Amino acid sequence: MPVDLTNALPLAWDSATLNADTKAMLDNLQPNILRAHVREHLSVLFIRFNDVAEGKAFLRHLATTKMKSARKHLEEVRDFAARGRRGTPYVGVGISKAGYRDLGHSVEDVRKFGDKVFRDGMKRRIAEVDDPPVDQWERTYQREIHAVILIGDAEPETVAALREEIIGELPESARLLGEESGQGMRNPAGDGIEHFGYVDGRSQPLFVKDEVDKEPKKHWDPAFPLSNVLVPDPFAPNPVRHHGSYLVFRKLEQNVRAFKGLEQELADSLGLAGADRDRAGAMLVGRFKDGTPLTSKPKAGGGPVSNDFTFDADDGTKCPFSGHIRKTNPRSFGREVLMARRGQTYGERTDEPWDDSPPEHRPSGEVGLLFMAFNGSLVSQFEFTQQQWANNPDFQNPATGHDPVIGQGDRAVKVTYPKVWGKPELSVPQAQVAQTVTMKGGEYFFVPSLAYLRNL
Ligand code: HEM
Repeated sequence: MPVDLTNALPLAWDSATLNADTKAMLDNLQPNILRAHVREHLSVLFIRFNDVAEGKAFLRHLATTKMKSARKHLEEVRDFAARGRRGTPYVGVGISKAGYRDLGHSVEDVRKFGDKVFRDGMKRRIAEVDDPPVDQWERTYQREIHAVILIGDAEPETVAALREEIIGELPESARLLGEESGQGMRNPAGDGIEHFGYVDGRSQPLFVKDEVDKEPKKHWDPAFPLSNVLVPDPFAPNPVRHHGSYLVFRKLEQNVRAFKGLEQELADSLGLAGADRDRAGAMLVGRFKDGTPLTSKPKAGGGPVSNDFTFDADDGTKCPFSGHIRKTNPRSFGREVLMARRGQTYGERTDEPWDDSPPEHRPSGEVGLLFMAFNGSLVSQFEFTQQQWANNPDFQNPATGHDPVIGQGDRAVKVTYPKVWGKPELSVPQAQVAQTVTMKGGEYFFVPSLAYLRNL
């Protein structure tokens, strides 16, 4: 029985009754798609091949010597939970449209990718998502990238050693165009955070039964069909069993000093005092710094970070419609749009991102998010989110404004904010907060099945 990508029941991956095609799918799928892989330390390499035979040989060797399957990863997670046994590092590969051409696939062949946006590449989509012109991107991303290699692990030494080894194995004809390194940041509670200091990575579409079982589900169903992230790999030996995923990579620089200043200005303009001042930032993100959803509570605090909520009882007087998590997941509709986010923060901090230090102690650049997300369709998931929701000031209701965190484009529309949580009294219309996240470059990739890579 072919793998059912539309079934919303979570995958019982180690069940004895799993059908043969689904088993084969897991043996041939790269990890980190269905379930996030540990990547506290992450190295990201951007490669250009230039020679068909050598490019193929390199990828084949990488796949057979250093890459594991999604099933192996799931087994490692299970063994770690049961016996504390550490898993092996993650090595993942994505290939751009230009990369497929360079590996010898014809124009006709590449049309087998259903996603038009992937076939265009990110540089040709800047108008649609209001990205900066390509000549303002960092040099690496201005070039024609053929592949991305992701190396992730809990230990920096493991990542460093693998990075060395993989670079050493690149053929003469290939070039390392550039690289990034990411490292996780955590708050004192141990939750992963991003540079503005907020808990990140909490809300995800979940595909695997073990993960779904752990979540409370009174209000929000965290289980999603595989179609949110998987498509048949058109070039694999057996696309019925061999799947891949579209990966969006964007380097997003964060001006933390500016954002922290804007939080203060917004709190001042609304007359918020004391602990209530934290509500200003929460209105921009949709969660307090500790992850508490603003739609559920007027103040931070109170146990593990909840994801079991909707905005159904919130007309924008608790969490504004523009709040980042409300824009990017309105929850009452658009489930098919949700991507599996697998990004990592980059850049060194000498301050503590979660504390209340004044804005002038914060970095104004060189730090940010290596945004990565797996999609079943880039055009109807990542691009839709960025264009139709984040960049659209009239999404859901007229004049709600851009997504204050990631919105791009002219923020001319004036907006209002609830002065008191849950009460209808609104502020006078005021200018939107300025853009503090800048896209520095990126690319669209397809993360192929291991079967494709091993057969190159
Ligand atoms: C959630 C920050 C970029 C889509 C979140 C959360 C934070 C955050 C703090 C809440 C944690 C959670 O619910 O998991 C940021 C920052 C970004 C960024 C600082 C840039 C520097 C993006 C981009 C997109 C995106 C580019 C997509 C176009 C989402 C989605 C969620 C989310 C879908 C989950 C919403 C939910 O399910 O409730 N982000 N984000 N983010 N973000 Fe972002």
